[in-house]
Amino acid sequence: MTRKATITIDGKTIEVPIIKGSCGPDVLDISNFYQETGMFCYDPGFTSTASCASSITFINGDEGILLYRGYPIEDLVEKCDFLEVAYLLLYGELPDISQRESFEQSITHHSMLHEQLRTFFQGFRRDAHPMAVMVGVVGALSAFYHDNLDIYDPQQREVASHRLIAKMPTIAAMAYNYSRGCPLPYPQNRLTYAQNFLNMMFAVPSEPYQINPVIARAMDIIFILHADHEQNASTSTVRLAGSSQANPFACISSGIAALWGPAHGGANEAVLTMLKQIGSTKNISEFIERAKNKNDPFRLMGFGHRVYKNYDPRARIMRKACHDVLGQLNINDPLLEIALELERIALEDPYFIEKKLYPNVDFYSGIVFKALEIPPSMFTVIFSVARTVGWVAQWNEMMTDPAQKIGRPRQLYVGEKNRNFSKSK
Ligand code: CMC
Repeated sequence: MTRKATITIDGKTIEVPIIKGSCGPDVLDISNFYQETGMFCYDPGFTSTASCASSITFINGDEGILLYRGYPIEDLVEKCDFLEVAYLLLYGELPDISQRESFEQSITHHSMLHEQLRTFFQGFRRDAHPMAVMVGVVGALSAFYHDNLDIYDPQQREVASHRLIAKMPTIAAMAYNYSRGCPLPYPQNRLTYAQNFLNMMFAVPSEPYQINPVIARAMDIIFILHADHEQNASTSTVRLAGSSQANPFACISSGIAALWGPAHGGANEAVLTMLKQIGSTKNISEFIERAKNKNDPFRLMGFGHRVYKNYDPRARIMRKACHDVLGQLNINDPLLEIALELERIALEDPYFIEKKLYPNVDFYSGIVFKALEIPPSMFTVIFSVARTVGWVAQWNEMMTDPAQKIGRPRQLYVGEKNRNFSKSK
């Protein structure tokens, strides 16, 4: 029997069905709420709104749990590589050997860009932020794959999804090399996804580039940790854009734009800037005080999360990866010491305890990126490469959802009422 909540407004009582998911909070089905009450629900920032039903990723923010298709993130990081996780997110199951081989084959063979796309890069200023280049070039893919794309054909959706996952590392590495005046790279089919990305980032035609397995593994972990995170700002943007039946390449470009902001994916770059600004452990308390001061816009970057009110499980893995990578590469980075001390002090501070502010995935990722010699402007770009898997998985799920309609939120209008028109003479 369907459970129902009763809501009484101005003496009129309505029944609202309660829907149970497989885990997580129950939801009130308010899809008929306006019809029955003539009222909208007001929820700025969607803090209490489930925008869709999804079976891809589950987060329990109070307990710090993250599952991709039911598998704990810790197990996936330990036992899988990125393409296996990508397959899992897209298709719902881990691949067997032949599924893995054909998926890898497809991703590998879609990784080159149309030669004409290479000329797009020349249009950007050399000092353009690579996220601006990503938004532009990924958006431009829609011009190359539009006329013949039927988004209602599952096979064509699959090819579009594979193309996006395959081409993102190429575009990202090209954006980086363009910014430093180096030749735009080509992918190498013999390499794994992470190795290929590193090779395109750092290899130059004039000398061989040795891929360090420690760095390739760290890159793989970073890709897995960032692959999906349910209905965050960028994923919701992709879904909203896709809900109007827009071209998927253009939808992913809109997701990249949403990811760029420092409150979302841009935080990893901001964390490194902040740690450098702090400069020494003896300055930490000054920055903690600034973060607590309501009159100061400064926030502790890499701290706090809309959903996690506990330690972000990705941050825990990243913290360990940080120790491992720096240890294996024999790097002594003073920023790690500052980060560890900053975390220790913040976690003991009543302000952070009371507001349940813990390190998030971005807190340690910047230090790992730095150890891998990835420049800060590329941090969010790498996040976007990984998150493309989640975006296309969520877009595909939306396209097959019988309940899907164009996303069209309403508003609480607080502007002028109907005014008599008069023009000043
Ligand atoms: N430093 C200081 N105070 C903070 C911080 C912080 N990093 N984060 C939240 N607060 C305070 C905030 O001032 C507010 O206080 P009050 O209730 O007194 O007004 C309270 O905690 C709740 O914060 P909120 O901004 O209302 O919470 P939100 O869920 O809207 O924002 C957030 C979440 C991630 C945008 C925010 O915590 C933040 O700006 N963190 C820093 C940026 C960051 O690290 N972003 C990466 C997020 S994880 C990667 C991703 O998924 O993209």
